[in-house]
Amino acid sequence: METDELDRIYSTIAGHQAADSYFERHGIAAAPILTVTDDETADAIAEYLRPRIEGKTVVEIGGGLGLLSLHMGLIAKRVFCIEANPIWSVLFTEVLFRTKPRNVSYLFGTADEFVGSIRGDVAVICTHSDVTGMSLVAAQFAPAVIDVYGEIIRSAAPGRFDPSIVAGRDAKWG
Ligand SMILES: C[S@@+](CC[C@H](N)C(=O)[O-])C[C@H]1O[C@@H](n2cnc3c(N)ncnc32)[C@H](O)[C@@H]1O
Repeated sequence: METDELDRIYSTIAGHQAADSYFERHGIAAAPILTVTDDETADAIAEYLRPRIEGKTVVEIGGGLGLLSLHMGLIAKRVFCIEANPIWSVLFTEVLFRTKPRNVSYLFGTADEFVGSIRGDVAVICTHSDVTGMSLVAAQFAPAVIDVYGEIIRSAAPGRFDPSIVAGRDAKWG
């Protein structure tokens, strides 16, 4: 994903009244900032998750572009990617036309809209904000929730991660 294109989207969302009231109405508290925007990152995370997702049904909450879900779809049996923010799909349309497989499905809406309709073996979140809120909703989809960055931060050497990212993991946006 081109940085210029992403920056343009970030500035479109910032201070956009309709978007703000949409997020408030739907209880979205994670920042609309992507962390997975290239295949290398998505592939590295999917491979890290391989032992726990291989052959399984995975529900990704707040999947952003959906790139990680696409990569998990190469390993898992079935992937549901739930994302509340419609703007990411605009950026990702071209890739989806070319590459979306039948075992990866994109659900547009807030995760709680789908509770009881879909279920997985594992739920995955990849975020630097509202980790607690997203973990709580993720737990309604699967018996195991993987907070990808939480695990990576805990296993990394002290100081390896930007302290402001670590400190902001529970911050709510808006
Ligand atoms: C910090 S972004 C990360 C996006 C993506 N996982 C990545 O790393 O590139 C968090 C995303 O989660 C979405 N989100 C937060 N809470 C959600 C919920 N309850 N249901 C659906 N999407 C949610 C937001 O719209 C946002 O796009």
